[in-house]
Order: sequence, then structure tokens, then C-alpha cells
Amino acid sequence: MSKNINKTVLITGASSGIGEAFAQVYSEQGFDLVLTARRQDRLEVIASKLKLIRPTNIHIIQADLSDPMAPNNILDFCTENGIHVDCLVNNAGYGNPGKFEDIPWQSHQDFLQVMVTAVTELTYLFLPGMIKKQYGRIINLASLAPYMPAPDMAGLYSPVKIFQIKFSESIHFQYCDHNIHCSAVCPGLTRTEFHEAANMHEVLKSPNWLWMDSITVARQGFDAVMKGECIIINGRLNNFFATLSRLIPQNLTRSIAKYLTQRSY
Ligand SMILES: NC(=O)c1ccc[n+]([C@@H]2O[C@H](COP(=O)([O-])OP(=O)(O)OC[C@H]3O[C@@H](n4cnc5c(N)ncnc54)[C@H](OP(=O)(O)O)[C@@H]3O)[C@@H](O)[C@H]2O)c1
Repeated sequence: MSKNINKTVLITGASSGIGEAFAQVYSEQGFDLVLTARRQDRLEVIASKLKLIRPTNIHIIQADLSDPMAPNNILDFCTENGIHVDCLVNNAGYGNPGKFEDIPWQSHQDFLQVMVTAVTELTYLFLPGMIKKQYGRIINLASLAPYMPAPDMAGLYSPVKIFQIKFSESIHFQYCDHNIHCSAVCPGLTRTEFHEAANMHEVLKSPNWLWMDSITVARQGFDAVMKGECIIINGRLNNFFATLSRLIPQNLTRSIAKYLTQRSY
């Protein structure tokens, strides 16, 4: 059993999938946890399971990140409870498939709030504490999607994931001299509730060899941020796909993306 290392990680979207796996990995490594998501009941079950394995301090914050007040409410909770956040995992996310113009603007706005604004604001709010202590580890859950000529969900999924990759680089380069690492973790297909939640049932039929499990993704993400790797693509196969699509002429990848997009919507 690992000892408590007196450090705390805040994980968004910890009620399932990759976020739940990150909670397990950080707990195994001796971190205290602050877990947040909308489904409080799920967070409580996960916290109870983790406490059975290891006596971890676990706080739960029920929050909907599409609410613009959520990041400040999370900071207030931590301040009121005397919690210093050493590590932040911006993991919460979802797919919003459909044709761009058919999706109500409010739905696009919520998506951008969760995937861009909340990620940026949580980083902004917790960074000063990390600078003060000269220690910080930040993970942004990006995706393999921007590397691939794939049809985009609503036209926004790959753009927000590109933002997360470039934002991670930017924060990493600005603050690595303060012992603050920031990594974009880019998984490919990973078995979680993601595709079911987004009604992407066709994707669920993809062959097994294309999928990774969430605990492997989380372990690789943890190792990457600890080593100060700024971007990590999970798994050999996904790295192969990303390299291949960089080698293919851009005109060809764009034609493939156009064909797949028009076939999908
Ligand atoms: N699975 C994949 O194939 C894959 C591939 C590449 C990247 N990713 C990325 O990995 C991250 C985690 O996804 P996952 O695959 O683990 O999916 P998941 O199992 O569906 O988990 C998504 C998490 O995000 C939370 N969440 C969603 N909307 C939220 C909101 N408005 N406010 C607060 N929390 C919210 C959910 O919690 P509640 O519903 O309880 O709020 C849940 O804990 C996402 O950023 C996703 O884009 C996934």
C-alpha cells in the first residue's frame, strides 16, 4: 500500500470512464482526491470503492460545468475546506454529434463552456496556488481526433480538442520553469460511456483491436505529466495512425475527411 504523499488532485468528469480511471490511478499513487461531475451518486460509489482499497481523503463536488459559475464554485469549495490543489485533470467531456446548423445554439454554447471555457478557467483559478508552491501537474484530456481525417461531430469536437492541445503546450512552456507540467493526453477509441451517451452506436461496432481501456489511458496520462511530456498520444496503434496521417499529403486527408463527413451527415 502506497503512503499518503500529501498532495491533492482535482479531477473533472470523475463519475465514469477515463475520469474514474484517473481517480483510481492517483489514489494508488497516494494522492488525496477532489472528484467532480454532475452525478453525485456515482461519485459517492466511486469514492467508497477507492476508500476500501486505500484510506484516501476524498471530497466530492457536484457541479455542472456548463454552468459558467461552476469553476468559481469549485474553487470556493476548495478554499473553504482548506484544500490546496496540486494537480488538475480537466477530463470532463462529451460528444455532441449532428449537423452543425441543426444543433440548437444553446447546445453549442454549453459544449464550448464545458470543453473550452471551464478547462481554461479551472486552470486559471488553480494555477496561482501551484506557482506559489512551485509544484503543479495539469492534464487536459484531448483526443486523437484532430490528428485523423475523421468526420467531425457537429464540427466542434476536433476544434475544441485542438484548443486543448495548443493550450496545454502554451501553459507547459510558460510555467515549466516553476515545476508546473501541463500535458495534453490524446486517446483514440476508449471503452467508456462516451459513445453510448452521444448515441454514437455505429462507432461502438468498431473492431475490438481499435479500442483501449480507460485505466491504461489514465496510467499513461499520469506517467506523461509526471515526466513533463507535453503531448501524449495513447497506444502504439494510435501513434501509428497519427504518424500515417501526417505523412499522407494534406489534400488527400482533406478529401477523405470531406467524404466521411458528407457520408455521416
Ligand atoms: N472514450 C473515448 O473514446 C475518448 C477518446 C478521446 C478522448 N476522450 C475524452 O475523454 C474525456 C472523458 O470521456 P470518457 O470517454 O471517459 O466519457 P464518459 O465515460 O462519458 O465520461 C465523461 C465524464 O464527463 C462528465 N461530464 C459530461 N458533461 C459534463 C458537464 N456538463 N459537467 C460536468 N461533468 C460533465 C461526466 O459526468 P456526469 O455525467 O456525471 O456529469 C463523466 O464523468 C472527454 O473529454 C472525451 O472527450 C474520450
